[in-house]
This record gives sequence, structure tokens and C-alpha cells, in this order.
Amino acid sequence: MRRKLAAGNWKMNGLMEDLEQVRSICVAHTDPAVDLLICPPVTLVSGAVKVAQGHALQIGGQDCHALGAGAHTGDISASMLRDAGATAVILGHSERRADHDESSDDVRAKARAAHAAGLMAVICVGESLTQREAANTLDIIGGQLSSSVPDTATGENTVIAYEPCWAIGTGLTASPDQIGEVHDFIRARLERRFGAGVGRSVRLLYGGSVKPDNAALIFGVSNVDGALVGGASLKQADFTPIINALEGSIHI
Ligand code: PGA
Repeated sequence: MRRKLAAGNWKMNGLMEDLEQVRSICVAHTDPAVDLLICPPVTLVSGAVKVAQGHALQIGGQDCHALGAGAHTGDISASMLRDAGATAVILGHSERRADHDESSDDVRAKARAAHAAGLMAVICVGESLTQREAANTLDIIGGQLSSSVPDTATGENTVIAYEPCWAIGTGLTASPDQIGEVHDFIRARLERRFGAGVGRSVRLLYGGSVKPDNAALIFGVSNVDGALVGGASLKQADFTPIINALEGSIHI
């Protein structure tokens, strides 16, 4: 039985005053059957960890370096995130792949570092609109999966987020059929590579314009264990209805 997971990706948004939203999200979340994760910018990680104390909310980073320490100005290591109280890290988000030229090999090295530091890696995969229109979606996802996910993956330390690039921040969402096709494909690939035990225990999140009004439809799709939510995770008033829709979803 996979636990449901609602994850918020705050991207480059949030000042100290926004820790108040973290507090409100904690207070509004009462169902112990749903895991909750917020990944604020790194400046807010330790503050968010303090706010989350005593609540069922995990705090994560949005990226980490593949190495543990060294001369890498501006970078953050997995063990630094862990030291600040984070328990997870998003890796290989399409914005990192695009803005920082991150390859799937880079993502795999980072995921290995995250695992070694005791962090759960939320590894993102997703096709561009051009790739989808050329009917290459499953090839792209298959390639990203095999190169980005390290051999150290287990159901506890790894989550896969399927985020079609064309649906991120655009208000466009993949249809239930499109989501189901990719999530079933990812599940089959994980089972083939890691065996049924691990392959069936890794949670699969959908991400890309998940909002209060489309969440229930998305959570009804097979092999959707939750969501990675960007814009709608910034405010408690938007995020809580999505978490509630996940609590109420029934296919799992
Ligand atoms: P969005 O972002 O919900 O704002 O589309 C999702 C993501 O990029 O993780």
C-alpha cells in the first residue's frame, strides 16, 4: 500500500513572512493517511522545519549538489539540507534541466548523494510539447527514468514526479488518459528494473498546473499517488483543497 503524498514546490518564491502559510497548511492538515511535503527556497528551509515541528509536515530542498562539500560557490549539498532539517529534495525539475543544463546523468549523481545523506529524492521527468507532438513521450520518459534514477532507489527514498513541461505553470493540464498512460508506463519500467517489491512501492506524483478544481480528477487516475504542486502550493487557501482531494481519492 503506497502512502499518498502532496508535495509543494515553492520554486523561487517566499520570504520569511510566508512561513505563516506553512503554519496554516500544517494546522489545516489533519489526516495522518496523507504525507505532506513543502519544498521552500533554501533560505526558508530551517525556518519551515521549526514551524513544522510537531506537525505531520516534511520540509525539502529543491536541488542539491552531487558532492558532499567543496569549492562550489552557491551550491548546497544534500548533507547540508539534511543538517537544516530537510528530509527530501526535488531533483531534475524541468526548470533546472532547462535553466542549468542539468542532464539525467547529473540528476542521477545528485539522487545518489541525496540517498547517501538520508534524503528522499523526488526525481522529475517530463516531455516537452514538441516531443509529445512527435509521439515521443514514452521514449523520452523511459530514457530520463533509466538515466536519472540511481540503483540505490527504494520505495522509501525515491518518488518519481511526472511533469509534462508544457503543463508547468501554463494552466494546461495533461488529460487523465495522458497521465494514466505515462504513470502506468513508469510503474511498469520501475517493476522491470527493480522488481515488483521496489517497483510497486515507489510513489508516482503528477505535476503541472494542479489546482483545487482539477485535483480530484487527477487523483482518480491509476498509479497517481499524489501531486507535485507549484503555484497552488504557495497559499494555504489553494493547497489545502488539493490535499483534501487527495485524502478523498479512492483508487489507491
Ligand atoms: P505548477 O508547477 O503547479 O505551477 O504548474 C508544478 C511544478 O513545476 O512542480
